[in-house]
Amino acid sequence: MPEEDHSQASKDYRSEIPQRSERFFLKGSNELDWGMKNRLASIFDPRSGRTVMLAFDHGYFQGPTTGLERIDLDIVPLARWADTLMCTRGILRSTIPPTFRGGVVLRASGGPSILSDDLSNEAIALSMEEAVRLNAAAVAVQVFIGGKNERQTVRNMTRLVDAGNRHGIATLAVTAVGRELTRDARYMRLATRICAELGATYVKTYFVDEGFDTVTAACPVPIVIAGGKKLPEKEALEVAWRAVQQGASGVDMGRNIFQSRDPQAMIQAVRAVVHDGETPEHAFALFEELANRTASPATAPAGA
Ligand code: 5RP
Repeated sequence: MPEEDHSQASKDYRSEIPQRSERFFLKGSNELDWGMKNRLASIFDPRSGRTVMLAFDHGYFQGPTTGLERIDLDIVPLARWADTLMCTRGILRSTIPPTFRGGVVLRASGGPSILSDDLSNEAIALSMEEAVRLNAAAVAVQVFIGGKNERQTVRNMTRLVDAGNRHGIATLAVTAVGRELTRDARYMRLATRICAELGATYVKTYFVDEGFDTVTAACPVPIVIAGGKKLPEKEALEVAWRAVQQGASGVDMGRNIFQSRDPQAMIQAVRAVVHDGETPEHAFALFEELANRTASPATAPAGA
């Protein structure tokens, strides 16, 4: 039992100073509850307001993707440079050390595999109870606006939003673009805005060359960009740079990191662009320097 406090005279209430009340740093997120904000602060770095999410959930529909054959050997060593890991619960439980201190975004939709003729025919593939048990910061769900299963995938998202809001877990809506649709700013504005209006905490979309600033401006919650298919390192850094310059709150990048000729160098170069505002030229020079160091490590001293 605590002892009685007799030190009344020495207490300092500073009654003349109004209580501090900081606005939350993330776009459109100030009215969220404390638990949700705390989880978002494990995804987005409050110092830069941005995130480098490392995405390696591709196996949920395409099995052992190139670069993801051995997540223990190839992805776990990258985790120290990732603000957030985006993966499936199967990989999280089996392979990711629970000592990882950043945010975890769990893949929460699935169903069809690459053998299916309709990848958009997804269902919810994770309960919110399981997300809580795994200490996820957010769940991720594909939304196919304009696709054959538009209604079903929007419904998947809204059900996860409702469940996530009950538990303080964020929902990342991933705007998936079917082959029949044009990936331009007009489509991205439509898809991201619908996801935000229907409750997504933040949205992932693809960068588009023309008018990406209008996509981020029209979306009331943070946007992160998907890396997309593998590009030469300098081009991938350019895409990341252009996206954050035009209002993206970071990247959710997979293949452009883990299929790079030096994934450790690449994730550090991506961080330089996203968090430090480095130009793609500087970040690429950093990539080359780090990659060269790996290729020719300093000779070990004799007798070592
Ligand atoms: C799968 C996903 C992936 O996580 C996402 O596409 C990121 O990976 P990449 O940078 O390789 O595109 O959401 O649908």
